[in-house]
Amino acid sequence: MKPVRIAVFPVGGLGTRFLPATKAMPKEMLPVVDKPLIQYAVEEARAAGIEEIIFVTGRGKTAIEDHFDYAAELEGILSNREKNSVLTELREIPGPPGSIAYTRQQEPLGLGHAVWCARHLIHNEPFAVLLADDLIKGDVPCLKQMVEAYEQVGGNILAVTDVPQEHTNRYGVITPGETKGNLVEINGMVEKPDPAVAPSRTAVIGRYILQPVVLDILDNQQAGAGGEIQLTDAIAKALTVIPTHGLHFEGTRFDCGDKAGHIMANIAFAIEREDIGPAVSQYIARLQLNA
Ligand code: UTP
Repeated sequence: MKPVRIAVFPVGGLGTRFLPATKAMPKEMLPVVDKPLIQYAVEEARAAGIEEIIFVTGRGKTAIEDHFDYAAELEGILSNREKNSVLTELREIPGPPGSIAYTRQQEPLGLGHAVWCARHLIHNEPFAVLLADDLIKGDVPCLKQMVEAYEQVGGNILAVTDVPQEHTNRYGVITPGETKGNLVEINGMVEKPDPAVAPSRTAVIGRYILQPVVLDILDNQQAGAGGEIQLTDAIAKALTVIPTHGLHFEGTRFDCGDKAGHIMANIAFAIEREDIGPAVSQYIARLQLNA
């Protein structure tokens, strides 16, 4: 079984749910407390053993490239002012030289299309896909849990969670088969089904480990739900050739592409911080008293 060394980060979406903040700034650069979403996702990938990172970017996303580069002038100033701990923190962001590659999705034609745009950088190997706007808080990074599951069962592994029935039309939803522990066999998948006809309320969230055959299927993938080329449809087609499991991961997932989800993530991460946690917790307690 080939190890999972490569991760694709599709960051070409328009982020329309977060306008006007995303008018001139990529959604993936929205901070949770003081760190952009994309940095959380890259740190999660590296903690899972990922060595090569591929960003599939689009127009207006250069802030992401700059974030994962050295900032010579800023670093010089921090060094002169002896702000050493923040300087060390900044220096760790880019990772080893040459470990990040960028490719462009010229038009935002959908998540499946974005992943397909990375095909020449994926050398016939299994690869991970991480959507940075799904931020997952937990003791063991979600992708690490998935890599451990992959080492047991191989094939495709998708992170899944149960959602309210009325929300099925926001997600890819699975037809579940046999369940073993926190792994569920996937027998079918459909993107954004109406709650009345959804095959279950078990939804796929933005973490995938995929076999390269999914890219071959994407070569001919037609537009699906919402007129977009859907990754879900390609994974569904691969079900006949690749065993596919959903992992009920441990942790809390925040949809940070949504304004309410982003605020909740900020609160959850802030209250655990030594520096600002007490002040934020006191403020929340005051709000509860006044409610
Ligand atoms: P979303 O469904 O959240 O779409 O994409 P979006 O365009 O980013 O945001 P909204 O819904 O308009 O607010 C899920 C992930 O897929 C990427 C996005 O960047 C995000 O990480 N994506 C989506 C692409 O890279 N390209 C696309 O064509 C579509």
